[in-house]
Amino acid sequence: MPAPEIALTERFQSAFAAAFGPEFADADPIIRPSQFADFQCNAAMGLAKRLGRKPRELAQEILDAVQLEDIAEPLEIAGPGFLNIRLRTDWIQAQTREVAADPRLGLPRPERPDTVVIDYSAPNVAKEMHVGHLRTTVVGDSMARTLETLGHTVIRQNHIGDWGTPFGMLIEHLLEVGEDSAEADLLRTDPNAFYQAARTKFDAGDDFAERARKRVATLQSGDPESLRIWTNLVELSKAYFHRIYDMLDVTLRDEHLAGESTYNEALATTCDDLEAAGIARISEGALCVFPEGFTGRDEQPLPLIIRKSDGGYGYATTDLTAVRHRVRGLGADRIAYVVGTAQELHFQMVFATAREAGWLPAEVEATHVKIGSVLGEDGKILRTRSGSSLRLMALLEEAVAKARTVIDELRPDLSEDERAQIAQDIGIGGVKYADLSTAHDADYTFDLDRMLALTGNTAPYLQYAVARIRSISRKAQAQGISPAVQPRVVDPAERALALRLLEFGPTVEQVGALFEPHRLCAYLFSLAQSFTSFYEAAPILKESDEEIRGGRLALAAQTEEILVTGLSLLGVSAPQQM
Ligand code: ARG
Repeated sequence: MPAPEIALTERFQSAFAAAFGPEFADADPIIRPSQFADFQCNAAMGLAKRLGRKPRELAQEILDAVQLEDIAEPLEIAGPGFLNIRLRTDWIQAQTREVAADPRLGLPRPERPDTVVIDYSAPNVAKEMHVGHLRTTVVGDSMARTLETLGHTVIRQNHIGDWGTPFGMLIEHLLEVGEDSAEADLLRTDPNAFYQAARTKFDAGDDFAERARKRVATLQSGDPESLRIWTNLVELSKAYFHRIYDMLDVTLRDEHLAGESTYNEALATTCDDLEAAGIARISEGALCVFPEGFTGRDEQPLPLIIRKSDGGYGYATTDLTAVRHRVRGLGADRIAYVVGTAQELHFQMVFATAREAGWLPAEVEATHVKIGSVLGEDGKILRTRSGSSLRLMALLEEAVAKARTVIDELRPDLSEDERAQIAQDIGIGGVKYADLSTAHDADYTFDLDRMLALTGNTAPYLQYAVARIRSISRKAQAQGISPAVQPRVVDPAERALALRLLEFGPTVEQVGALFEPHRLCAYLFSLAQSFTSFYEAAPILKESDEEIRGGRLALAAQTEEILVTGLSLLGVSAPQQM
């Protein structure tokens, strides 16, 4: 593994154990990038506290004990006890060579691959996918790609909302308008319009509402005709979801659908088992679980309702049943729920209950990857001017159209087809990247101009960086210059870029461990910036020395490969030219 931090950490920990005793073997050496060197070790301050001694004294003892001759120049103590570390150029050179020869570009292989279930996207049938679903879709898809590429087994689960009381109303409406009518076709193109029409009739309160209520009961009792119409509703909605997924270049397919209805048969057993285990009990007519540590107002234990007093099951029952299936049926080692922040309490209570029931053993990790809100310019949840939730498709089309004006201005020389393809890459890439580059639990403001800007931490900036390197490579090829086998790591600008390239593997590994794609974005952005500084200081095509030119070209080629691979983990494609 080439990453400097990892090599340094190992060496420092051995030194801690040798100098202060074996109980210090796993103390964190706190290796950080440094302004004055490549890295610094900030451990002396913390160790001093732990040992009741002076930081500078400890820094000296660490310096004496640590063996870094092959990796770094002699260390220097600075300030209260920082250890400045300057890596040896020949070490960076050797590591860079290793990455250059590695088809995985330095991505570590997991010691033991995990089975990771990722629950993401999860829109609701016959309802518009709103921008909230955009985020869960984009973040979840990037996590799936990343973990798969690292070598884990990923099981995608699209837990769509395809069951529940609204289906009575939706079925009745579909029957009224006719299953082959233009209104029915709205399910594929503008599902919210269909839903709203049904809702309006339902709210009018006459016999439609009564029929809708009855229909829920017949549907739930397994009436074949009701089930047939329900299946039709779901099919039409699936067509809509897949149009969006195709547009977004998201890897979700039909085989990943595991909607709420999948668990219907098992809901009663879930309740019976929890009741038999003494975990659930009847409270005010409903079957409830009171997981430990959850209290509401007045310190009263908070209930998780798993069977309502009318005998119906809810969202929590389905999720408890799904956890059990994911662990026992799918063999999950880790489960990620990429779902809005608002559902935090729900997931905490579901996880706690599942742990109590033994359905979620301690060695299986369950994480709610909390997704923040997308805000409009007014700082409120993004809506259309009329106040209804925004149509995702319209938003994506607008992004591509705007990207088209950007590229038309930038490259009027390209053909119509080429510009259309690039506009698609930048428009969709820009929207996805804006989602991914923000910490997933933070809110952000939807601002197409910023998302499509060619400067700053944006997809177009990175896509442009790739296109620029590709153009350099094309020119080099035309001039008969080929890249050297070994990237050149001699001049400071080359050295700085090479150091960045070494961080790719560990960064992706961390993203996979923490479910935090914004770290990959930050890395790619800094890599592109390093490339720009490198290219300013160390010209390639203008360099007359053939060896230097080839070595720099190799470094550029490696940068391109890492940028393109990194973007592909985010689900963003890089055009050949821009
Ligand atoms: N359909 C739900 C919604 O739109 C999200 C489902 C998330 N996944 C889950 N297992 N609960 O809010």
